[in-house]
Amino acid sequence: MPDGTREVAVFACSHRGGGNSDAAAALVARGAREAGATARVIELRRFRVLQCLACRACAAEELSRCVLAGKDETETLFDVLMTAPVVVFASPIYFYALPSLCKTWIDRSQRFWEARRKKDPWVMALKERPAFACFVAGQPAGQKLFDGARMTLKYFLVNFGLTLTEPLGLRGMDAVGDLPSAAEACRAVVELGRVAGQAALGESGA
Ligand SMILES: Cc1cc2nc3c(=O)[nH]c(=O)nc-3n(C[C@H](O)[C@H](O)[C@H](O)COP(=O)(O)O)c2cc1C
Repeated sequence: MPDGTREVAVFACSHRGGGNSDAAAALVARGAREAGATARVIELRRFRVLQCLACRACAAEELSRCVLAGKDETETLFDVLMTAPVVVFASPIYFYALPSLCKTWIDRSQRFWEARRKKDPWVMALKERPAFACFVAGQPAGQKLFDGARMTLKYFLVNFGLTLTEPLGLRGMDAVGDLPSAAEACRAVVELGRVAGQAALGESGA
């Protein structure tokens, strides 16, 4: 039975399996375990996530519930964000942004934004915790390459009590295998995992 109190939850956000963000997620998990935490990799593409209907029912609903709750696996993913001591996102950059599946999931969190706006006790009671991210991008350059993904992730996570630290952005990672064959980048990702693992231990009081 994994010890959830010191677990680092790592979301792997690519639509393709076995690529650079999957490799990054595995390296983060390795670093977290080296730090003494446990780690779980969650591949987003395995989850069914329906699009936000923009119906605004969550704004009116007493507990800010979503009309789609139970019709897909979105709430299972939200449960992780509400309870994990530390979360890490390993994601590719698609058109200067997060991949569409991840963004679809993020849009569904509108009910958490509404709950914060209304100061619903259940959302205000969520513990403040740290979050981390590693972005991989095919382009070798581009000053603002990670800005879109960083901003979206930051304002998504804040509604769960999660504060995003400055993401690690890796450029020039395009083909499958580019990250695993870049030793320096791999070291940086493992180090990110170690920091996340230490944060999880700190959250658990260990
Ligand atoms: C739909 C799509 C859009 C992309 N857009 C960008 C982009 O805007 N900038 C960039 O540097 N790379 C872009 N890429 C390249 C990916 O970021 C790169 O191949 C990355 O390594 C993919 O991660 P993965 O191996 O985890 O799937 C794009 C790739 C795809 C499939």
